Amino acid sequence: MTFPVHRPRRLRRSAALRDLVRETRLSAAGLVYPMFACPGANVRTEIASMPGVCQQSPDRIVEECREVADLGIPAVLLFGLPERKDATGSEAASARGAVQRSTEAIRKAKLDLLVITDVCLCEYTDHGHCGVLEGGSVQNDPTLALLANAAVSHARAGADIVAPSDMMDGRVGAIRGALDERGFADVAILSYAAKYCSGFYGPFREAAQSAPQSGDRQGYQMDPANAREALREVALDLEEGADIVMVKPALAYLDVIQRVRERFDAPIAAYNVSGEFAMVKAAARNGWLDEKRAVLEILTAIQRAGASIIVTYHAKDAARWLKNC
Ligand code: PBG
Repeated sequence: MTFPVHRPRRLRRSAALRDLVRETRLSAAGLVYPMFACPGANVRTEIASMPGVCQQSPDRIVEECREVADLGIPAVLLFGLPERKDATGSEAASARGAVQRSTEAIRKAKLDLLVITDVCLCEYTDHGHCGVLEGGSVQNDPTLALLANAAVSHARAGADIVAPSDMMDGRVGAIRGALDERGFADVAILSYAAKYCSGFYGPFREAAQSAPQSGDRQGYQMDPANAREALREVALDLEEGADIVMVKPALAYLDVIQRVRERFDAPIAAYNVSGEFAMVKAAARNGWLDEKRAVLEILTAIQRAGASIIVTYHAKDAARWLKNC
């Protein structure tokens, strides 16, 4: 006999009861705010498809970082735009690059903020691919040294964590080796271990000016149809020395996050990507969604699936809402 003895509604009667039995508690402490650093000074250009998100020069990045830290968000993830693009993305490893300069400036300002830097070539190559091209295809092994150099330049600038997002095989090991060799054994690696070839990156490619000029990324990013393969990718990255593993995008891959959580003990991050952000913003602007409710529900779902770290463009808004909850 269940009803009338069992009445699940008993625990939903009041806010206090619902709070008491809540299984997932969202907090700003697990959020990471992505930012786009560009060359120059006093530059701040909003990205049309990502309201509130801007390309900014290092001086402006630091200003916004102050606000991010004050909101209790523990970390930013920096992407960079170069002065000039070339075939090998050489500016990715430049000490004068926008990411390196922004990292230094954040360090100098002594903000209570972790700096995570994106390690990839697609923003820096003139062809827009995440590795070096030869005969129209992206070459894995020659790309590894370039990624390692970029990671070392970020560490030198003061990054706490480097985050390779290119999906080349063996890059976590190559980056770990290069960091250790140069005396950066304490710099951690957050690897985009299971990064899918997704239609949800559109707005980011506008923000980072990183759309491939020919072809697509199917030859290196994962097929959205595969979940078991994600477990293999995660296992390999952990073996190579990844400290944190990420699943990306988040919303269409909650099952993948959950399976990674069940199988591995490492901290798991999920990337609530630009297209996921833009959809909510667009609907909210039309009055079709209550933005606050939708965002907090989305972030709760990602955490419930098993991610303890969420990279999201909603981080600042969410932190404000959570403070007043
Ligand atoms: C590639 C990179 C991408 C994103 C993060 N790193 C785009 C891509 O693979 O084309 C997407 C992030 C987002 O959509 O918010 N370096």
